[in-house]
Amino acid sequence: MKIGNYEIETPVIFAPMAGYSDRAFRTICKRLGADLVFTEFVSSEGIVRGSEKTESYLDYDDIERPLGIQIFGHDPVAMANSAKMIEEKFQPDVIDINMGCSVKKVVAKNAGAALLNDLNLLSKIAGKVVKAVKTPVTAKIRSGWNHKNIVAVEVAQILEDQGITTLTIHPRTASDVFSSKPDWNIITEIKRAVDIPVIGNGNIITPFDAKQMLDRTGCDGIMIGRAAIGNPWLFNDIKKYLATGDTPVERPLIDKIQLCKNLINLEIEYRGWGNWYPIMRKFYSSYFKGFPGASQFREQLVKSESISNTLEIIENLEKQIISS
Ligand SMILES: Cc1cc2nc3c(=O)[nH]c(=O)nc-3n(C[C@H](O)[C@H](O)[C@H](O)COP(=O)(O)O)c2cc1C
Repeated sequence: MKIGNYEIETPVIFAPMAGYSDRAFRTICKRLGADLVFTEFVSSEGIVRGSEKTESYLDYDDIERPLGIQIFGHDPVAMANSAKMIEEKFQPDVIDINMGCSVKKVVAKNAGAALLNDLNLLSKIAGKVVKAVKTPVTAKIRSGWNHKNIVAVEVAQILEDQGITTLTIHPRTASDVFSSKPDWNIITEIKRAVDIPVIGNGNIITPFDAKQMLDRTGCDGIMIGRAAIGNPWLFNDIKKYLATGDTPVERPLIDKIQLCKNLINLEIEYRGWGNWYPIMRKFYSSYFKGFPGASQFREQLVKSESISNTLEIIENLEKQIISS
């Protein structure tokens, strides 16, 4: 399928993940095989206002390409204007519209998954954004607002009519948040109902899950969110498994230590000396678990705000492993 100027068969995509899909972690995912990466969602209103903080989420490096920028909002004019501004200033390969976020402060403003309750507005937003830019516009949806309101197939058809080029479906409702199993049948139904490429998302943890989703739903690509945080090797593992049937190995702690050090270096490079550690605190629990003393080890790391101290803590663990 086509992603901007890139032709990629069965893309394995890193999801937009607020608080995680920053430039440093996207770079790691890219190095480890992600075919497309997304920024976390940014507010269309923030972009239109020229908010420096909002724009700071959109910094990226050319090695991340193809890269998508995701926007959210409820006002079709602000959405279209922000897309135009993003196109001019950042030139992403894809602009994605968030129509699936169920976080309270987003849906309270009629944005994200709240759009699944107002298909006229949803259609208007998609149409206006598509008309405002030359960049391909994609959208990411959930299956509906709640189980009484499963609208994904209808939404997919509306979005296709409005010129959306690719649709990602996370087949849970907004009220499910992350509980219950995603209903993969909805991916199959959407795939039958539209001609644009469909990306399946939700609970892909292993290469087997990825293959099952592709085989069972016929979707054109897959998107990985939470599982990538602790296991960014998953992108290459999936691609290898799909190509050869080779099953992945469990990554030893020493690989996770190296990954963590690489991520710290990238965070320092992109965010600067004062700002690297708050984001790293979110990652430690994904890498340092399942060994004796892991929770005390994480506690030490979380408390550490100095790079020399943090590296000393990590390198002590590394030495212990090497000498054992
Ligand atoms: C911490 C967190 C942040 C997220 N941020 C975004 C976001 O900015 N935009 C978006 O479309 N989805 C966001 N999502 C949803 C994910 O992109 C994805 O659809 C969801 O996690 C299901 O995929 P998974 O089971 O592979 O994690 C977020 C999810 C989590 C857990």
